[in-house]
Parts: sequence; C-alpha cells; structure tokens
Amino acid sequence: MSRLDIFIDRMTSQRACINFAAQATADLAGPVFELGLGNGRTYHHLCKVITGRDIYVFEREVASNPASTPPADRTILGDVFETLPQALQRFGATASFIHADLGGHNLQKNDEFARKISPYIEPLLAVGGMMVASDRMYFDALCEIEIPEGAVLGRCFIYQKP
Ligand SMILES: C[S@@+](CC[C@H](N)C(=O)[O-])C[C@H]1O[C@@H](n2cnc3c(N)ncnc32)[C@H](O)[C@@H]1O
Repeated sequence: MSRLDIFIDRMTSQRACINFAAQATADLAGPVFELGLGNGRTYHHLCKVITGRDIYVFEREVASNPASTPPADRTILGDVFETLPQALQRFGATASFIHADLGGHNLQKNDEFARKISPYIEPLLAVGGMMVASDRMYFDALCEIEIPEGAVLGRCFIYQKP
C-alpha cells in the first residue's frame, strides 16, 4: 500500500466512525470532546454531524484553518496530560462522545502515546458514551465495538462505556 492509500483509508475511516458514533450517542446530552484540532478537518465534520451538544476542543496550540477554528470558550488549550484531568474536575464523567486524533507519522510513538493517554480519557466518558480513536487505545473498562461499514480495519477504533 502507498502512503496515499493509507492516508485515504484513515480519512475514510475517521469519517465513517465519527458519523456512526455521533448517531449512536445522539440521545446523550453530555459534551463532545475533540482531542487534537490540527487543521480542524475532523472538528469541522463534528460540527456538521453533532446537534444539540457542546463540542470542546483540546489542543496544545491552535493552528487550524480559520474556517474550522473553534470559539475561544470551547477551546481548552494546553497539553492533554494536564487539561484532561482538569476537564474531569470540571465535567465529571459526562462526555457523550470523544474523538481523538493526537498522533503523528511515527506508529511506534503513537502507540506509546496511546498507552499513556488512555487512562486520562477513560474516566471522562458517560455511561453509553463512545470514543473514536485513530490509534488502538488501552482501556480497562471500555469495550471495543465493531467499526461500521466504510471504515477500514486497523485505521480507526471505537470504544464504548457499558
Ligand atoms: C493529526 S493532528 C489532528 C488533525 C485533525 N484531526 C484534523 O482533522 O485536522 C494532531 C494534533 O494533536 C495535537 N496534539 C498532539 N499531542 C498533544 C498533546 N499532548 N496535547 C495537546 N495537543 C496535542 C497536535 O498539536 C496536533 O495539532
């Protein structure tokens, strides 16, 4: 597979999994968290498919396309290892949907990062809430669920709090 193939699979899978989780959690009232704004493409997509729920973005430094830059009062700036524990104090276990795309090009580093960040993400989810990630996560009590049609195995992962 070329890098282009892998990139396309990742984007297609992100969209399919975000669409699936947005719909599957639509009855939950809690906030939606976007971890890693980057260019803002997935944030922009979340804004299109989520209605009636606040979307908060966690990012070290905002450098997104102006068309997909979140409002300041929904942007939680800083390193997620610091801002996620603060979010737990602020919101408790209420997140209905968390999407994470925090990795870069180095797969081994992404995996190490996923191992470290998983325990910071897990307590934020509400019962029934879903987490979509571009990397395999390492949760104690969340269940991995089957990815939807249109997503490519290994390119996106979905977890749910039972
Ligand atoms: C791959 S990009 C996200 C791309 C985005 N999903 C999009 O569609 O444009 C990853 C982002 O995660 C952010 N990030 C990585 N590690 C972080 C950390 N420890 N704390 C906060 N943000 C982090 C980076 O600054 C980068 O903007």
